[in-house]
Amino acid sequence: MMKATLLFLLGLLLLNGAQASTSSEKKEQNERKIEELISKMTLQEKLGQMSQFDPGQLGRPEEAKQAIRDGKVGSILNLVGAREVNELQKVAVEESRLGIPLVIARDVIHGYRTIMPIPLGLTAGWNAELAEKAMAVAAEEAAAEGIHWTFAPMIDISRDPRWGRIAESSGEDTYLTSVMAKAMIKGFQGDDLSAPNTIAACAKHFVGYGAAEGGRDYNTTLIPEVQLRNDYLPPFQVAADAGVATFMSAFNDLNGVPASGNEFTLKQILRKEWNYNGMVVSDWASITEMIAHGFAANSKEAAEKALKAGIDMEMATSTYVDHVQALLDEGTIDLATIDEYVANILRLKLDLGLFDKPYTDESAAAKSILSEKNLQIAKEAASESFVLLQNKNELLPLSNDLSSVAVIGPLADAPHDQMGTWVFDGKKENTITPLTALKEMLGADQVNFARGLKISRTKTTEGFAEAVEAAKKSDVVLLFLGEESILSGEAHSLANLNLQGAQSELLEAVAETGKPVVLVIMAGRQLTIQKELAKADAVLYAWHPGTMGGPALADMLFGKTTPSGKLPVTFPKTVGQIPIYYNHKNTGRPADYQQWTDINKIPAEATQHSLGNTSHYLDAGFEPLFPFGFGLSYTTFEYSDLKLSSKTMGKDGAIEVSVNLKNTGKFEGAEVVQLYIR
Ligand code: GLC
Repeated sequence: MMKATLLFLLGLLLLNGAQASTSSEKKEQNERKIEELISKMTLQEKLGQMSQFDPGQLGRPEEAKQAIRDGKVGSILNLVGAREVNELQKVAVEESRLGIPLVIARDVIHGYRTIMPIPLGLTAGWNAELAEKAMAVAAEEAAAEGIHWTFAPMIDISRDPRWGRIAESSGEDTYLTSVMAKAMIKGFQGDDLSAPNTIAACAKHFVGYGAAEGGRDYNTTLIPEVQLRNDYLPPFQVAADAGVATFMSAFNDLNGVPASGNEFTLKQILRKEWNYNGMVVSDWASITEMIAHGFAANSKEAAEKALKAGIDMEMATSTYVDHVQALLDEGTIDLATIDEYVANILRLKLDLGLFDKPYTDESAAAKSILSEKNLQIAKEAASESFVLLQNKNELLPLSNDLSSVAVIGPLADAPHDQMGTWVFDGKKENTITPLTALKEMLGADQVNFARGLKISRTKTTEGFAEAVEAAKKSDVVLLFLGEESILSGEAHSLANLNLQGAQSELLEAVAETGKPVVLVIMAGRQLTIQKELAKADAVLYAWHPGTMGGPALADMLFGKTTPSGKLPVTFPKTVGQIPIYYNHKNTGRPADYQQWTDINKIPAEATQHSLGNTSHYLDAGFEPLFPFGFGLSYTTFEYSDLKLSSKTMGKDGAIEVSVNLKNTGKFEGAEVVQLYIR
């Protein structure tokens, strides 16, 4: 027996060694190919590789083909379709002088055609394995349509729901964002970037974009280095260590220096401290935007600053093509720098296998897009993303012997908005809405539908009568409110986080019928819903749940699944509390639960110090509406027997914490056990 085991181990070692030598052999082979190509490339061809354009910028098809033939284009973003990509790839590979393939990029943020929950919702599932599976689906479908590279995951720490891009993030916590970053990168990239169903990922937006002052997109950020290193950088370091193929530099200025010209972050931290050797692309026009920032006098200086900072590839503008020759001639930039950046780009293309297999199998899409497997994963991801915020009298789950339900609200049957922001390729006809799913589940005659409001911003109330009628003739009201998808995402910041339009009034109108109300909110961010909590019996937060949001909600409302989601962000009572996040500093005068006063209870002529001098708002206290990590279940859990392995830190700097967890309720359920330390 012993001998066999030894032989087996020896075999493993040899195999492992073989694999290792193959992969290191492959790397050496690739490096030789890079050197050989660069030695042949003209400057124009080098600058072509460093340039990424959108098809609209390349002009008519013949002009685009000619630019590719002349070696002026290294990458195209927003070109989709295996046939369309293969057509231009053929020009690059077979008609350009050196035959260097194009790398095709797209924002596949939370799904390609099978749309997953928005990343903020996916993160509410606190399930890294599921997030990985969801992004593997996205990669498989995108790759089948000719895409090699996605600009995701977005891992900006986001503590301000006024900022519309919080929807694309994994929320406010550095650790949770890091865990999700690693999982999503693995999902996109798999174990082999050259596989036909994997695509290169992109850690964005490097760095600090989520700290935009006032939650106003693109606004300046001021982040002291201690906070930058503790809160904002770690997810990017985890991404780098996880082997993310690319980084994207951000739009914002960080402490006065735009992220796309920031040598401290791009050179000192990313390259020197983290030893990252992937490829860095600028965000859309973020290089020329350094002029508007007041950081560059003109596009030539913008090019100089981006090159000195270490942007390998320029997205959507042509300062490199326009100015590098002059910068080289005057000695501002040296050719070795250009060659280093071109090498990073060629290495990505080699890792993607584009030199060996430049073309996409045009039959792949039909097999993978919207497959049953993919839709099932999307439904699972949606289901785990839902967070139960309130469940008065255990109204949920609903019993199956209800005679009828009223389905009301602008998000009850909103196939476009249900998908959420950053959906370029999802098609609304593939979305299954709650109305469709509930009719399917209960039978159409058991469902009384009334939209009540056309869209989330509708202010007129002529639809209320029909909604009230539907409520009156039903046993329970399922009210779907929230945000249209356009209200979150890039450039979509809000100064007021109350429900838009007359949605709150619609809730009041149906609540007045006395029927029990289940409020389901679909939104791209946390909203200030304190008023609505009082009017609804149960409240389920569904974010924007994607293609399968309807079936996932129907199952959950009727108890086929149990909510397990936990908030990845803190819910403020009012926008005036922002920024508000769980791991805030204690301050020297932490608010005291006893001392806190309700502004209406302050006696007239109260003396100066009678209310206690602690850190809180007289009109909003200091607690959020719901804290990070909050989420109810249909069942209950008992924690017992909490133990520490020792009273002091062990010699290896570790302490083991253990607890017994028991499901003490009537339903199966999942619980995210959370440990907070200070
Ligand atoms: C956008 C976004 C970025 C996106 C890029 C390409 O402006 O900031 O997240 O990946 O441009 O669409």
